[in-house]
Amino acid sequence: MKQLITEIQTIKEQCLSALQQATNLDALERTRISFMGRNGSIATLMETLKSKSVEEKRILGPLLNDLKTSCQAAYDAQFDRLSKKTDAAPQSFDVTAYKPNQLYGSLHIYTHIIEQLSAIFTTMGYTIVDGPEVETEHYNFTALNIPHDHPARDMHDTFWLSRHDLLLRTHTSSVQAHAMQQTKPPFGIFAPGRCYRNEATDASHDFMFTQAEGMFVDKNVSMAQLLATSRAFLQAFFEKKDLNIRVRPGYFPFVEPGVEIDATCPFCKNGCSICKKTGWIELLGAGLIHPNVLRESGIDPEIYNGFALGMGIERLAMIKYGINDIRLFHSSNLQFLSQF
Ligand code: DAH
Repeated sequence: MKQLITEIQTIKEQCLSALQQATNLDALERTRISFMGRNGSIATLMETLKSKSVEEKRILGPLLNDLKTSCQAAYDAQFDRLSKKTDAAPQSFDVTAYKPNQLYGSLHIYTHIIEQLSAIFTTMGYTIVDGPEVETEHYNFTALNIPHDHPARDMHDTFWLSRHDLLLRTHTSSVQAHAMQQTKPPFGIFAPGRCYRNEATDASHDFMFTQAEGMFVDKNVSMAQLLATSRAFLQAFFEKKDLNIRVRPGYFPFVEPGVEIDATCPFCKNGCSICKKTGWIELLGAGLIHPNVLRESGIDPEIYNGFALGMGIERLAMIKYGINDIRLFHSSNLQFLSQF
């Protein structure tokens, strides 16, 4: 009997101190189960009461009741304290936590198109290169067989900078001479980037636009290689195996012969609004590199030759995704931008 009374006292002390020491709700719950749960120490003591005599029950009953109510009260108090702490405490919070309807950023359509094109050209063995947007007259014109008094300079409405020979490049063909000076043939380069022309803007012209230049230099390069490369890349870009190309003569001072390459419309068989009912879409300027261009950058045209091709990134994107205004590309119109 005496031993039982001591045991009740000990369990009470242990339980109250364990509840007090619980620092979070999980620990509190574990303590509750071990002392106050269905198989906890208090329940076990209660069980022993059943076999006691009436006199003993009269003494032990109130002690056990006191044990139960004190522990329950201590548990409730601690539960309140710890719950409040959890509600009010978050001084630190998880900044990466998901928030519904959050505004997400996305890659710009330029990035998508340039990545698609670069992937196609690298698969064909080309190296992606970059060139300066602020260019010298030499790289933009002279090295490309466009001398000072050449009328082709007038075709490019150039933004001249205040230092007399500097300009904003008018095309990515300016990367050609840099590439030839930096690499020994054979080589293939693909150079996407910004270009600028001082002209009025409308739905299909902008003063700032993006082009990509492809160039391949080796021995005995043929027109057939240029056409096969152009067709393969256009088929991959528009994801159409049956896309075909046709060639028209075109004049560009840095290639001879120069051609313009059209592709069969990727969207129709008999003419639609995108191909203006012709079934063909103009896509590339290209040709075999003029011997003067090779010579000017230190490559012997008696040994090497090559081809070059140029494309407008916005034009390719506008056709592929049905975009009707080039000015959307550098607008901050989120409705447009977030589609890609
Ligand atoms: N640079 C020309 C332009 O901006 C495009 C071009 C035409 C690039 C023919 C080429 C080419 O490489 O062979 O209009």
